[in-house]
Amino acid sequence: MTEEIKQKLIKAAFEAKRKAYAPYSGFQVGAALLTKDGRIYQGCNIENASYGACCCAERTAFFKAVSEGEREFRAIAIAGKGKDAPEFEYCAPCGICRQVMAEFCEPETFEIILPRSLEDHQTYALSELLPFSFTGKNLES
Ligand code: THU
Repeated sequence: MTEEIKQKLIKAAFEAKRKAYAPYSGFQVGAALLTKDGRIYQGCNIENASYGACCCAERTAFFKAVSEGEREFRAIAIAGKGKDAPEFEYCAPCGICRQVMAEFCEPETFEIILPRSLEDHQTYALSELLPFSFTGKNLES
């Protein structure tokens, strides 16, 4: 991926965080999901008074995209910060979101970009964050 596209994706994740609905944890997250043909879907975390009904930013972005017919993804940028925290820290996706990524994304080539800022970011392959995953292939045998 070009640095220009990566920067665009990171900016879209920071922008999406502004829409977070996180009145209970105060931890606000934005995600920007890039399809293989270059479209970007943004998502934020959406909390609920019944805590189990909370949805992470990453899954919001995936479910928006999949429900629009998208099936092929290239990368996701994730930006998270406590409401009163002075700055962003790297915000790794939770286990459930990694499992959702495993459903739709190629383990070796799907990139997970974790920015603290436009200049300071880390990138991982899905296979690094979810090795030896359970997928549809397991159900074929
Ligand atoms: N959260 C996300 O949206 N993505 C992550 O990668 C980590 C956690 C949300 C869920 C919940 O609304 C809040 O952050 C605190 O866990």
